[in-house]
Amino acid sequence: MNFEGRVAAVTGGATGIGAATARALAEVGARVLVADLSVEAGRTLAAEVGGEFVQVDVSHAADAERLATAAVEWLGRLDVLVNNAGVVLAKSTTETTEEEWDRVLDVNLKGTWLCSRAAIPRLAAGGGGAIVNVASNAGLVGFPNAAAYCASKGGVAQLTKAMALDCAPLGIRVNAVCPGHTRTSMAESFVASQPDPDAFLRDFVERQHPIGRMAEPEEVARCIRFLASDEASFVTGAVIATDGGFTAR
Ligand code: NAI
Repeated sequence: MNFEGRVAAVTGGATGIGAATARALAEVGARVLVADLSVEAGRTLAAEVGGEFVQVDVSHAADAERLATAAVEWLGRLDVLVNNAGVVLAKSTTETTEEEWDRVLDVNLKGTWLCSRAAIPRLAAGGGGAIVNVASNAGLVGFPNAAAYCASKGGVAQLTKAMALDCAPLGIRVNAVCPGHTRTSMAESFVASQPDPDAFLRDFVERQHPIGRMAEPEEVARCIRFLASDEASFVTGAVIATDGGFTAR
């Protein structure tokens, strides 16, 4: 796998799955634009991978545009967009406030669309490329106490298929990964918000993932890198479970 001469933008690239993806892409020669709300962690990660950092809130159209412009102005082109930025909310249908619903949908779903909309002309101008969206196993099956999150990630899965059709004539492939429980700060705070975190880890994470453990961020990142690479040249519109068998049952 060789990304020499290619430029990849990773939203939410400062930490967790995004940071692992930035590292995985840089390892094989990509120049990486780390795009995140968090300035300090984003700058640190960009310096580590020899890339650039741009502060964005993916839910704002102007920021999504700035991301795409920054890739071309600072790094010369844009070949890969990884829509990974996301937020989780552990609340049921009736507990969720309208503001919470809007924020989760704005970041996870609208942000994916806005960044893709901004990136597509730049990807096409370079002769094509790849978009990889980070959905979730919660985009494939329902979870209790996660109404807005499930709705947002189900939307990302469908958006992936729709964009794949729009982008195929432009030489741009669009795919999604659906991680199961992955060891990141988001997953840790989700576990901590459960009434009995130890029981949740035992019953949900270990028993319900047939592989018997949670994922490491690097395991998800390698699947994202595959979908972004020429190795996946005939793969588009695919929504791939990277969940240790969670949704195979
Ligand atoms: P994380 O919380 O470690 O990282 C998320 C990153 O996104 C952070 O750096 C944060 O600053 C950034 N971010 C949040 N809102 C943003 C915004 N509006 N604009 C720009 N950046 C923003 O979380 P993690 O676990 O690495 O999550 C990455 C993606 O993977 C998310 O889309 C999440 O929903 C998804 N996912 C995570 C799973 C897990 O178990 N950790 C499971 C399934 C999906």
